[in-house]
Amino acid sequence: MTFKVKTICCIGAGYVGGPTMAIIADRCPELMVLVVDINKQKISDWNNKDLSKLPVYEPGLSEIIERCRNKNLFFTTKIMESIKKSDMVFISVNTPTKEYGLGAGEASDLRYIENSAREIASAAEGHTIVVEKSTIPVKTAEVIKKILASNQKKSTSTFSVLSSPEFLAEGNAIEDLENPSRVLIGGECTDAIEALANIYLKWVKKEKILKTNIWSSELSKLSANAFLAQRVSSINSISALCEKTGANINEVSEAIGMDDRIGAKFLNSGPGFGGSCFKKDILNLIYICKYYGLHEAAIYWENVIKINEWQQKRISDLVVNKLFGTVIDKTIGILGFSFKANTNDTRESPAINICKNLLEEGAFLNIYDPKVEGDKIKNNLKEVIFTSNKKNHLKISIMASVNELVKNCDAIIILTEWDEFKSIDWSNLSKSMRSPSWIFDCRDIIKEDENIPTDNGLNIWKLGCDRK
Ligand code: UDX
Ligand code: ADP
Repeated sequence: MTFKVKTICCIGAGYVGGPTMAIIADRCPELMVLVVDINKQKISDWNNKDLSKLPVYEPGLSEIIERCRNKNLFFTTKIMESIKKSDMVFISVNTPTKEYGLGAGEASDLRYIENSAREIASAAEGHTIVVEKSTIPVKTAEVIKKILASNQKKSTSTFSVLSSPEFLAEGNAIEDLENPSRVLIGGECTDAIEALANIYLKWVKKEKILKTNIWSSELSKLSANAFLAQRVSSINSISALCEKTGANINEVSEAIGMDDRIGAKFLNSGPGFGGSCFKKDILNLIYICKYYGLHEAAIYWENVIKINEWQQKRISDLVVNKLFGTVIDKTIGILGFSFKANTNDTRESPAINICKNLLEEGAFLNIYDPKVEGDKIKNNLKEVIFTSNKKNHLKISIMASVNELVKNCDAIIILTEWDEFKSIDWSNLSKSMRSPSWIFDCRDIIKEDENIPTDNGLNIWKLGCDRK
C-alpha cells in the first residue's frame, strides 16, 4: 500500500521542530504543515507579525516564515485537532536528561515523548506515520509503538513508526536543512519509509537519503554527536598542553586538520562544547553501555564529558589567577552567552558554568549577547546571581552593547564567536576599562596581526596560544 501524505503535523515548536517544518513547508507547497506546541506563548511568538520576535533565532529563518506562514505553514495550540487531520506526525519534543530516579543524570527523560505518543494514539484517524525527530536514546521507537498500540481509541486507526533524526546544527539550521549531508530514515514499513523519502526528494538528492533499520538510525544520531563532541574535547585537551609548552593551538589545529584522514572541521578549541545534544547524547551512550555491561566503553565516553567540564573550570580558574588570585568585587565583562554563534540557545552553554564559577568567587558580571534575552541569562544563573549579604542585590548586569559592557571592567572574557566581536576596536575600547585590564579570548576572535598596543596596562590572553 502506498501512503498519500497531504497534511503533516509536528508536535513541538522548538529549535528542531520550527526550522524543520519551515523548510518542509517551503519546499513542498502542496503539503499542509501544522506545528503544535503545549506552550501557548511559544505558538503566539511564532505567529508574531514582528519577525524579530520569533522564539528561535536562525539566520534565514524569518524570511521562510514570512513566505509560508498562514499559507501552508500554521502554528497552533490545537494539538488533537491537528493530529487528527494529519497523515504523518513528527515528534520534535524535548528529551532532557533525567534528573532523578533510575538512570538519573544519564538516561533521557522520555516523558514528553510518551505524552506525545499518547496524544497521537487518542487523536489519530486512519493510517498515521509517526516520525521520531527528537534526539532520543536507542529503542525509543519501541516505547512509542507500545503506547500507540495500547492506547489507540479507534480500532480502525493504524500506525507505522519511523526514526528520522535531525542532523541540523543550530545557527546553521537553514543551510543544513536545505542541503543536508544525509537524511536518515529508519523503519520497518517500506511504504512509510517511501512516503517520508518522497517528501525529502523534493529537494534532497536520492543518494543522500539513507534507509536503515530503526535501531541503526537511532544509534547513528547518538554516535555522530558523541564523535563530534570527542573531537572538541580532544582539541581542548591539546589547548591546555599548548599553554604549558609554548605551542600555538591554531597552528597545531591547522597541522592536524590538513591530514585529510582527520580533516579540518571541528578542531577549533574553545571554552568547551555546549548545546542541547552533545552532553545529553554522550550521557545516553554511557547509560546504554552500562546497561549492556560495557563499563570500559562507558568510562571512555564519560571522560569526553569530564574534559569538557575541566576546560570550563580551567578558564575560570585562569581568570582568577591572572587577576592576582582574587576577583572579589571586581567587574568582569562576559562577551557572548549562547553556546555558539548565530543562535539564541543557551542550553549547556559553557558560559553558564564559567559565569557561575566567577560569581561564586565574588565577581560582578556585565553580560552581553546579541541574541540571548536578559531574562534567559538571569534564569540560567538564578542560583548564584544575588550577593549573600544583601539578598536582593544582583551580581550581574545585562548590557545592551559591547561599548556599555566594557566600562570599568577589570577583565573581559570572550565566550561566543559572534561576528560583531571580530570588529571591536580594542585599543580604543579598553581605555574605559580599569587598569591593569585583561581580555581573555576563548574563541580566537582577536587575531595576532591586530597588534593591539599593550603598553597601557592592557593584557591579552588567547586560549591555547599563550603560556600560563
Ligand atoms: C550538534 C550536531 O552538530 C548536529 O549535527 C546535531 O544534530 C545536534 O548537535 P549543535 O549542538 O547545534 O549541533 O552545535 P555544533 O555546531 O555541533 O556545536 C556544538 C558545540 O561544540 C558548540 O558549543 C560549539 O561551540 C562547540 N565546537 C564546535 C567547538 O568548540 N569547536 C569546534 O570546532 C566545533
Ligand atoms: P529541541 O531543541 O529538541 O527542538 P525545544 O525545547 O526547543 O527542543 O522544543 C521542544 C518543544 O516541545 C517545546 O516547545 C515544548 O513545549 C514542546 N512539547 C513538549 N511536550 C509536548 C507535548 N506533549 N505536546 C506538544 N508540545 C510539546
